[in-house]
Amino acid sequence: MNVIETDQFEQVEMIRLGYGPIGSPLMSVWMYELDGLVIDTGQHHMAKAVKSLLPEKKISRIALTHHHEDHSGNAAMLSAAYAIPVMAHAPAAAKLKRGFPIRPYQYLVWGKAPSVDVLPLTGVIETDRFALTSIKTPGHSSDHTVFLEKKRGWLFAGDLYLGERIKYFRSDERLDDQIRSLKKVLQFEFDVLFCAHNPCLTNGKSKIKNKLQFLEDFYGQVKILAAKGFNEKAIIKALDPATDRLIKWFTMGNVSFSNMVRSAMASIRRDR
Ligand SMILES: [Fe+2]
Repeated sequence: MNVIETDQFEQVEMIRLGYGPIGSPLMSVWMYELDGLVIDTGQHHMAKAVKSLLPEKKISRIALTHHHEDHSGNAAMLSAAYAIPVMAHAPAAAKLKRGFPIRPYQYLVWGKAPSVDVLPLTGVIETDRFALTSIKTPGHSSDHTVFLEKKRGWLFAGDLYLGERIKYFRSDERLDDQIRSLKKVLQFEFDVLFCAHNPCLTNGKSKIKNKLQFLEDFYGQVKILAAKGFNEKAIIKALDPATDRLIKWFTMGNVSFSNMVRSAMASIRRDR
């Protein structure tokens, strides 16, 4: 059963998309539209819904937070159908232009993002009423960026936040970069967190602070165990939440708690 919901927060249209061919969607994706600017484009499995919710007269540009298929899934379709440009940071643009491989679970849950020509982002995106500053925030992916509307205190956060207590990492996520990126956005003032999977319409900054604290605590825990002589496997066993096995199996190891521990260990080695 697919989920398609739209909501309005001040001048921002929030579109929630969940793909569930058998039963409820495993995860929802939010995309946002303000002044004709679309931020992220949802999963390709929901292309029809996206096109019907965003008719040509409504949108003029697309900005992507990163290349992942649940964010870039409909950029090619919207860009071609309405002859509108797509913007992203240069590393994301390169990946999106040549296309990137995904795993079977990603086909199943999101669908493959068709390749698309992307213009590199330059500092601030101006719309009729707003100015969105792009801020590079690597960690979740190396090409990740967020968009901050400073006057309104809105942070379009892509996958920077997701939740205060994260249980899993993709295999290419970097804990130390995530910590640096969270600290970077905390230098700015904002209250609304337009997260791509978990929007928080109040107290966004304290939620980011809590996530930073959680990741720093997790890093500390791993560091203590490593100092005691635990190897990676022993640390995973000592901290492993019981739920890890199922997601690890479903994603063939691409998403797991073990990846979080591995990333912490790699960060510790880099910090030495
Ligand atoms: Fe992502």
